[in-house]
Amino acid sequence: MGLNIYGSLIVLHLVSACVWVGLLVALSCSLLPQAVRERDGAAFYRIEALYSTVGMPALFSTIATGLVLGYLHLPDFGAWLDFSNPMGRLVGLKLILLAALLGLGVDLRFRLFPKVEKLGIGALRWHAALITVLSLLLVFVGASFRIGWLY
Ligand code: HEM
Repeated sequence: MGLNIYGSLIVLHLVSACVWVGLLVALSCSLLPQAVRERDGAAFYRIEALYSTVGMPALFSTIATGLVLGYLHLPDFGAWLDFSNPMGRLVGLKLILLAALLGLGVDLRFRLFPKVEKLGIGALRWHAALITVLSLLLVFVGASFRIGWLY
């Protein structure tokens, strides 16, 4: 079996997406609510370490492989937001969801993180929940390339 670039990109995209989405579900459904319940301020530093050592590399790899996969499906960048083209619709939806996710991520990292000691760890809950929902929608749109739901 020869090395296949498309197949390797899919595997990398899937593995990094699994790590990213798995981490977020664990954060929003378990680690964060537990820290809020127990008023465990130190949990923030453990969560931040997990986010930067595991979450960020996984997100970076998902985005990088996703962009290359998008290019392989649609080499014309002008069509990436063309919603009348089924492939452009899927790539465009991915890019819109990604922009919203990155916007929330920047707000979380640069506005909320420095204020967490004052506001309490509960201040992160809405951002974590929304980022998790956006990531699950990215999985749904991603699966749709193969299944054809949004064509
Ligand atoms: C957190 C962000 C993302 C997650 C969780 C995610 C998740 C997924 C998943 C689960 C699949 C299904 C793979 C398969 O059917 O084998 C997929 C496919 C795909 N994703 Fe993403 N994705 C993300 C970001 C992106 C970005 C930014 C792009 C760039 C536009 C992108 C482009 C694609 C493409 C083109 C496919 C179809 C691959 C194929 O079946 O040929 N993804 N994604």
